[in-house]
Amino acid sequence: MTARRILVTAALPYANGHIHLGHLVEYIQTDIWVRFQKLRGNKCVFVCADDTHGTAIMIRARQEGRSEEAVIADMRDAHVRDFAGFDIAFDNYGSTNSPENRALCHEIWAKIREAGLVKEEAVEQLFDPKEGTFLADRFVRGTCPRCKAENQPGDNCSKCGATYTPAELINPKSTLSGATPEVRSAQHLFIELEKLHSFLAEWTQSGEHLQDEVANYLKGHFLGDTLRNWDVSRPAPYFGFEIPDAPGNYWYVWFDAPIGYIASTHEWCKKHGEQLDDWWKNPDTEVHHFIGKDITYFHTLFWPGMLKTAGFNLPHKVHIHGFLTVGGEKMSKSLGTFVMGSTYLKHLDPAFIRYYYASKLGPRLDDLDLNLDEFIAKVNADLVGKVVNIASRAAKFVAEQTLCESYPSDGGLFEAAAAKADVIADLYERCDYNNAMREIMLLADAANKYVDEKQPWVLRKDPSKAAEVREICSVALNLFRQLALYLSPVLPKLAQQTAELLNVPIQRWDDVRSPLVGTRVSPFKHMLQRVSVEQVQAMTEESKVVDPATAADAPAAPQWNDGPEALAAEPLAAECTIDDFVKVDLRVARILSAEDVLEANKLLKLTLSLGGDSKRQVFAGIKAAYKPEQLVGRLVICVANLKPRQMKFGLSEGMICASGPGGKDVFLLAPDSGAVPGQRVH
Ligand code: 2FM
Ligand code: ZN
Repeated sequence: MTARRILVTAALPYANGHIHLGHLVEYIQTDIWVRFQKLRGNKCVFVCADDTHGTAIMIRARQEGRSEEAVIADMRDAHVRDFAGFDIAFDNYGSTNSPENRALCHEIWAKIREAGLVKEEAVEQLFDPKEGTFLADRFVRGTCPRCKAENQPGDNCSKCGATYTPAELINPKSTLSGATPEVRSAQHLFIELEKLHSFLAEWTQSGEHLQDEVANYLKGHFLGDTLRNWDVSRPAPYFGFEIPDAPGNYWYVWFDAPIGYIASTHEWCKKHGEQLDDWWKNPDTEVHHFIGKDITYFHTLFWPGMLKTAGFNLPHKVHIHGFLTVGGEKMSKSLGTFVMGSTYLKHLDPAFIRYYYASKLGPRLDDLDLNLDEFIAKVNADLVGKVVNIASRAAKFVAEQTLCESYPSDGGLFEAAAAKADVIADLYERCDYNNAMREIMLLADAANKYVDEKQPWVLRKDPSKAAEVREICSVALNLFRQLALYLSPVLPKLAQQTAELLNVPIQRWDDVRSPLVGTRVSPFKHMLQRVSVEQVQAMTEESKVVDPATAADAPAAPQWNDGPEALAAEPLAAECTIDDFVKVDLRVARILSAEDVLEANKLLKLTLSLGGDSKRQVFAGIKAAYKPEQLVGRLVICVANLKPRQMKFGLSEGMICASGPGGKDVFLLAPDSGAVPGQRVH
């Protein structure tokens, strides 16, 4: 088989924040994939960089009274240290603020201009006259135009959930200077993405480059309509690269950030005597991006559009993953579940989280939940109890001896494990790590069963059984080595420790097919310690930021006294099948607005968001139970595929779910926190 040329990227972390356990889902996922490709003998290069430009860095530098360059240099050191701590092995870690990136931005921009895709338009934005800068929405605060709550951000109200533009805020103030911002107009440059519509429709829908759910999402949300022009410039002052043919204007951070992938590759090429074109303008090179679902739009529409126009390789595949939740909730500073990478490393071994994430990651976009009890149980049961246990029970009886000169009979265990090589490789290739881990743990179970049955610790007491003990340990250590090899993309340190124990490096996937014979066994050294509840607690304690608003003592558990009246009043409906149930498409929705329908006694008119641009108008009979202002911003469950019904007051395009007999006794159903609009209810 000829080696593939594979260029891999993980999303470039912003230079204005530290790496946390949420970021690490992606870096660990990608690092595993890269290590797997290298083990298979492919020529694989893994690049990343800090994403350094934009208003946030500029403001931070001003606030800290130093240059942007100084701010990004410090953060880079921290990022590099954290990644190394988790065994994330980039081949190059660059910066978007590099000369290579600037040159590539110029080259790509010239091509986009040449293709006639750039258009100029005036944009109105709030301007801070004291700081002399345009203000991104999050740098403006004021009074909510809807509910009049004070000190609300420039784009949406945290009290009532209303969305608005910063110019609609009452009494707006710049958070930078406290000044009242002015509305000013400036010329911006836009890329006319619509001109690439047919290319993007074909590329995204080819079935080759994107997960099916991503392709469908793009088709449903964007490609059915005209693609909106993309605003790629910002007027000075802005920390970034000045646009050569529009002096005083800078490329928006999202223009130069993905170009940073190419720039980082260029840095790597210079260090290794390689040509950039061999990696980015070569049909024989596969480019693989790993990203989170929040930045899908940039990587699946803008970015392929830019690459196509500028004549670079298109992504072979964009691998998109879901978000991290901890204990089923969003990471929380007050609960101590917003854990920085550096805090984790003070308390726990990186191998634990690498294995835990691998055991939960699949090829789809589902969110990944870090359940700390499960984390402890899984690490101890699988890594310590199953995998390392084999080596620790066998190695000490053959330390300083050699393995048998020919591989002993083992009842077919080694062959059976070797026969799984293609299945496990395919699972890694498809990012189906949880199934790969499952297969590997089944092999570990079989190896443990062998050691349990043979009991070398009993036999070794009888000197006449020394040869038999050596055979058993030769088998056990070979089975262990197969596991260490299969796990080596996930647990590189364990692979290294195994190599030291058996004095043969772990370098190639196919080594799993040939047993080691005659090699010397080193004295056994501890490979992994068990993880304790105390260690995990110490980590979450250190991560806690006490918020007085949420720190109140939890109330005592209530005593439930649920009588049978409700069920009696409305007995259960006739039995239905799962097929009947799935016909009803229930979705999480957010109430964007709620209005009284004056002519109707019972009805409120609701506008629901199902995520993105998808909206529904629904008339709900809940007027006696809820005031409109209590509803705006909250999440509800909506029957999203109900046939629209024309009512006297307008079209009702669904229904929201509630319990109760009616009138004042209506209780809306709501999902637990963490749910997001558009999610299906199963
Ligand atoms: O979302 C983010 O954190 C961005 N800094 C990712 C950029 S990825 C790439 F396009 F540069
Ligand atoms: Zn409000």
